[in-house]
Amino acid sequence: MAVRLNAINFQSPRCHSFALPAIASLRSPKASTLHSGSKDVETVKKTFSPPRRIHVQVTHSMAPQKIEIFKAMEDWAENSILVHLKPIEKCWQPQDFLPDPASEEFHDQVKELRERTKEIPDDYFVVLVGDMITEEALPTYQTWINSFDGVRDETGASTTSWANWTRAWTAEENRHGDLLNKYLYLSGRVNMNQIEKSIQYLIGLGMDLRTENNPYLGFIYTSFRERAAFISLGNTAKLVREHGDFKLAQICSTIAADEKRHETAYTKIVEKLFEIDPDGTVLAFADMMKKKISMPAHLMYDGHDENLFDHFSAVAQRLGVYTAKDYADILEHLVKRWKVEKLTGLSAEGQKARDYVCGLPLKIRRLEKRAQTWSKQAARIPFSWIYDREVHHGIGQIDNKKEIVF
Ligand SMILES: [Fe+2]
Ligand SMILES: [Fe+2]
Repeated sequence: MAVRLNAINFQSPRCHSFALPAIASLRSPKASTLHSGSKDVETVKKTFSPPRRIHVQVTHSMAPQKIEIFKAMEDWAENSILVHLKPIEKCWQPQDFLPDPASEEFHDQVKELRERTKEIPDDYFVVLVGDMITEEALPTYQTWINSFDGVRDETGASTTSWANWTRAWTAEENRHGDLLNKYLYLSGRVNMNQIEKSIQYLIGLGMDLRTENNPYLGFIYTSFRERAAFISLGNTAKLVREHGDFKLAQICSTIAADEKRHETAYTKIVEKLFEIDPDGTVLAFADMMKKKISMPAHLMYDGHDENLFDHFSAVAQRLGVYTAKDYADILEHLVKRWKVEKLTGLSAEGQKARDYVCGLPLKIRRLEKRAQTWSKQAARIPFSWIYDREVHHGIGQIDNKKEIVF
């Protein structure tokens, strides 16, 4: 069922497109308009949030009988998925990496931290802040996972394995934003007020991933996204280490290790779905890739820059933290991991979906070169997160070549 929700549809659901991550949704802010049935509602909405564009919202696209598949997977999830959670007593906590406020050495430790971050260039801070804001919008992600039919936590204290996983996953994730937030705060290099405002905006705006309450789509998305987080944090760790902050590098690697564990769990769920329902799963995989994997913070806003996410992701691409190549690598990895090429006994539609997904990494790699050319045409842009200091981003003059459609 397609429902139009107080927003314009900026891309026909039939027009499948993929945009490279760094240029994911370059757009004119003027094109964003909120539509509402009532003028009063429109005024109120504009008071609380900036104009945003979201797709026509499709809900509950999974056939209701498939809910049984997830019920039948309960025991399997208990034994195969919950094992990827770490017991809390063995988990690291943000405080393990931060100056101890109860210690007499607190001020010296803060001084050391500030010395270490001194050599890190501004554009790295833009990427770190963007990552931190992404982590801090965790309420959105838990709400979103609990929108999936058949696996949601129906009560807030449900005892199903799916609900136990989601709550514990959220609890693990919660440490990521906390740690990055405190570290960046203590560094003194960033405008915390602007950052906090951006977090509030982002949680208020939500995200538009087009997963349709459908756990097939949702778990394919989380598999991709956890791997993307693992890769980008790993790259960030390397870069900050080169600039002398070993502690921050350690923090990024430690968070990356959590993301890797989460990736393992989510890819196992999808692997199981391929086993039980190969046709339905390959169709969902193709559907998700045609829609493209938007990053969860794609609606980010700081009260000033209506293209903030594009600018942030362009900086990430230019620094090599998360690039079009990574996008293709992740897809290729998942195709191999789920043995998509070897799927047999598919319907005609399923075969088409399989061939599409298997051919996609190559197509993306061909387009990568264009992205690289664009990223050399660097322009400078101010970021409120770093007191409006300007950094190079990589998107140059490409306004009319925004999205690559295939
Ligand atoms: Fe995370
Ligand atoms: Fe994660």
